[in-house]
Amino acid sequence: MDKFVIRGGEPLLGTVRVSGAKNAALPCMAAALLTDQPVTLENIPLVRDIETTRKLLAAMGAEVELGYGRAHHRTTIHAEKVATPEASYELVKTMRASTLVLGPLMARCGRARVSLPGGCAIGQRPIDLHIKGLERLGAKITQDHGYIEATASRLKGAEIVLDKITVTGTEDLLMAATLAEGETILQNAAREPEVADLAALLNKMGAKIEGAGTPTIRVKGVSKLKGAKHRIIPDRIEAGTFLIAGALTGGDLNIAGCEPDHLAAILSKLKETGVKTKVTADCVRVMGDNPLTAADVTTEEYPGFPTDMQAQFMALATQAEGAAVITENIFENRFMHALELVRMGANIKIEGRRAVVRGKSPLSAAAVLASDLRASASLVLAALVADGETIIDRVYHIDRGYEKIEEKLKGVGAQIRRIGNMLP
Ligand code: UD1
Repeated sequence: MDKFVIRGGEPLLGTVRVSGAKNAALPCMAAALLTDQPVTLENIPLVRDIETTRKLLAAMGAEVELGYGRAHHRTTIHAEKVATPEASYELVKTMRASTLVLGPLMARCGRARVSLPGGCAIGQRPIDLHIKGLERLGAKITQDHGYIEATASRLKGAEIVLDKITVTGTEDLLMAATLAEGETILQNAAREPEVADLAALLNKMGAKIEGAGTPTIRVKGVSKLKGAKHRIIPDRIEAGTFLIAGALTGGDLNIAGCEPDHLAAILSKLKETGVKTKVTADCVRVMGDNPLTAADVTTEEYPGFPTDMQAQFMALATQAEGAAVITENIFENRFMHALELVRMGANIKIEGRRAVVRGKSPLSAAAVLASDLRASASLVLAALVADGETIIDRVYHIDRGYEKIEEKLKGVGAQIRRIGNMLP
């Protein structure tokens, strides 16, 4: 298993480029199942979850070219036939977002067999809302041997009010509705930019979607979708992670190729913490020369502060003067990184869904364990300012969602190396 070895204390200086958004690329890849024509996606991040999705689509009979060399960061998916509309437990257990194929498979093939994802390091994460929504569209769904079996002749448009805001649930139902008969109205839909990006691709494929990015999405079903070419939006979570890296290390870092509009909640929280930033069209410069002061943060659905930045913000809070209360509203068990940060010298008390971080604490290097994707990012951030050499184990978690993070950080002055050679 790969490890990172990080020697802290170097200010990050220069320019780091953001990759395409993993969470936009995954549903867009699944959307290629909706047509028998090729779909080409550009700005694909070369991370492990993308490779898992390639395997998932290939196992169903789709041809998937995933670009290296000249076709770098590009994929063309041609699902001329979907021979096996199935997502196996082997793949779903490594990536919960595999359930994103459920909607497209039902729409295209009228049947799907998808493993239930089971437990997860950050909470229960059920998919009941995906299932309920598909049932509203006319699917018959049963559960057997850990799998969901769904069938329908042709889905029928309906009004679906989501009990809770769910990102992949919204995406799954959006994809299902594109080929349903009649109109579907999704109420209480997720407003994340990744949902809007998926809708942009689907509309290029011939879908009729309005309102993506707002709580009400209207979809007029069509009988067929065609191939399309689409460029994936920049990864706002990767951008946010680098912003915190620049601020924490007292560096001067340009985060290039990002979409500042998608970073509003993160930038506003950094400002409250005393971090100086300068925004231009597709770049944010972070200057870490100000002292940091504690700011409370509460995770919310977009446009609120993202749960996927909570762990990284906690690393920042360890270096701010005063007490910060971090409230996690989206997932019930998303503080695993706190215990590892405490092992590095942080002062953090967990009270249910709240963590109280008292800073500023000097951090010292330790052997730590990455427990999930964003938790690993927070450990990398803490290690960048810790005294000595931190060893982070299980970095396969970080490889799921950050493209070559050690190379990007090394490029701006971090002392980081990978032991092992298991890149995606
Ligand atoms: C997506 C993101 C993930 C992010 C999360 C919240 C992808 C691939 N992943 O995950 O990075 O952390 O949004 O921004 O885009 N819920 C239910 N029933 C359901 C579905 C969800 O109760 O059927 C609950 C979840 O347990 C959670 C909340 O709704 O408490 C939000 O989860 P959801 O938005 O669905 O997260 P994901 O789409 O899995």
